[in-house]
Amino acid sequence: MLIVGNWKAYVESSAKAKALYAGAKRLSVKGKHEIVIAPSYPYIGMLAGGKAGPSLASQDVSVTTGGAATGEVAAGALKELGVEYVIVGHSERRAQGETDADITEKARHALAHGMTPILCVGETERDSEAQYLKGVRAQISAVMEKLTPKERLTIVIAYEPVWAIGKTGSEAITPSDLGEMILYIRKVLADFVPGRANMKVPVIYGGSVDPLNIRSLASGTGVEGFLVGRASTDVATFSSLVKALS
Ligand code: PGA
Repeated sequence: MLIVGNWKAYVESSAKAKALYAGAKRLSVKGKHEIVIAPSYPYIGMLAGGKAGPSLASQDVSVTTGGAATGEVAAGALKELGVEYVIVGHSERRAQGETDADITEKARHALAHGMTPILCVGETERDSEAQYLKGVRAQISAVMEKLTPKERLTIVIAYEPVWAIGKTGSEAITPSDLGEMILYIRKVLADFVPGRANMKVPVIYGGSVDPLNIRSLASGTGVEGFLVGRASTDVATFSSLVKALS
């Protein structure tokens, strides 16, 4: 499975970043899962270059290629540090006004630099008529339709219902609802990546994943990994979460 630890802005000291990195390194060397960590920019710089450690992801990337864009971090700078994945369209970025067009540009910059976008999609709330499915379809389609057939194979979809993010584990999605959603996302993806190649696009889940719920969320739902926020920012919790999958 692909397990991405999204540190968000929870980590504010280099000592903590180093401890978390060391923990993730033990898990990636010993275990069978692909461990990816997404530190904030300064800690990407600090942790880059480690051998046999977890892969690095960026939590965001600039919508521009560089130049006069104060405060932005261009894809080229991330690539040079060895970043392999770039989270795009996280709901916390969308809440800052990021549009589907921005997210598409970011995904394209990541791809152009040989990095894999992790495209976050998910509804804010559910309604009884299942209109929320259309919203998720629109979020995926907006990006996929602008990519080349080859680029469409180098993307990860992270289904992250906004209502489940940052809550306690008991408020995460249920395994049966997750299984249904994964099937739906696979159907949407089939419009862009038909046939067996569809399975080359991993669909992962994020939203209040913890050591207690990860096992049931993983079994029989078709999910291929997890995007973990808060629970990835404590060494012991992240370790027991990964071990729960072994
Ligand atoms: P959470 O965050 O695990 O803290 O709910 C997940 C995410 O937003 O990626």
